[in-house]
Amino acid sequence: MNRDELIDVMRRAMKLRAEQTTDMTDTERLEPAAHYTDPERFAQERELVRAAPQLVGYSRELPKPGTYAVKDVMGTPVLLTRAKDGKVRAFHNICRHRQAPIASGCGAAQRLACPYHSWTYDLTGKVVGVPGDEGFTPEQSVAARLPELPAAEYAGFLWLGLEPGAELDVAAHLGELGPQLESWAFGTWNPIGEKRLDVPVNWKLAVDTFAENYHFATVHASTFATIALSNCTVFDSFGPHHRLVFPLRAIDDVGDAPEDEWVPLDRLTVIYAIYPNVVLSVTAVNGEIFRVYPGSRPGESTTFHQNAWRFPLDTAEARAGAEAVFDYAHHTVRDEDYALATRLQANLETGLSPHLVFGRNEPGLQHRHAVLTHALRRLHPQGETQP
Ligand code: FES
Ligand SMILES: [Fe+2]
Repeated sequence: MNRDELIDVMRRAMKLRAEQTTDMTDTERLEPAAHYTDPERFAQERELVRAAPQLVGYSRELPKPGTYAVKDVMGTPVLLTRAKDGKVRAFHNICRHRQAPIASGCGAAQRLACPYHSWTYDLTGKVVGVPGDEGFTPEQSVAARLPELPAAEYAGFLWLGLEPGAELDVAAHLGELGPQLESWAFGTWNPIGEKRLDVPVNWKLAVDTFAENYHFATVHASTFATIALSNCTVFDSFGPHHRLVFPLRAIDDVGDAPEDEWVPLDRLTVIYAIYPNVVLSVTAVNGEIFRVYPGSRPGESTTFHQNAWRFPLDTAEARAGAEAVFDYAHHTVRDEDYALATRLQANLETGLSPHLVFGRNEPGLQHRHAVLTHALRRLHPQGETQP
């Protein structure tokens, strides 16, 4: 967001605050509980998420030519590389010999050696060394390449598609949200790490926890609510994506300060829902990604939580400070949001109550679920009948 946009949302937030209200929809929405438990719908959702462009991390995870990183994307093991030509590529992280994972973690290398029998690959996916190559035909060994997935960099993030050969058009996917994401220059922010949460929670229920701040006063009474307001949100949609702006308590201290002295990010947090399964939270100091993937059944999901720091991490003190912020947010999501969502999921699975209510004050929830249901209906016109 540029400064004019930030000033505009801050004005809107201050108005909501003054009127003791929040952005509202016209009506509430009843969401069938079965949407979180039904295996048929879940299978359709997995298909939909798999087909979407996948934001899998920050550009700076591959900071220079000759670097690599591995990712797990809905169970697909992915090897990302930046070869000498500077281009980002993605491959299945599966050795052509006997299917060992070729690389782990991330690092700098011009070649990667499989840990099993040491077949080596360059960063364009080509096999460049086979010990004892007389044991293999060339087409199964030295002439082989790793299957390549579509990959791109956009708005400072790494993106890929899970279908080899499929088109990956991230700009089209993001639409009007694209230029806004680009304006943050996330490509210059410094990644701090990746934490994984496997939870007995439907993937949508996990994403739902980021889609309103109505729950802050209760679920986060001793954490986020000490610095952020509850049930006060500026909402905007961008096609299938949306943006929430959560005012911090400090918004009450602006007083009569003229607008040109405002520092909006000292008083606001910006949360993007990047359709269908990624949440991006931006503060004055960091940008966090939550990549939420459906698991192997409706009541399971995996979240990868990543953080990038806006400022240099060139001292031990700076890094320790950034890691402390990351840990704090992670523990809050794990021990407060996801702990409660686990209990919600158990209730949903009883089938005792037919629906959930998304209030007029929960426009992010309403938007996400309306968009997803609409998309599923287009994919499966016969199957899905609920609104
Ligand atoms: S499995 Fe990779 S070299 Fe054998
Ligand atoms: Fe929360």
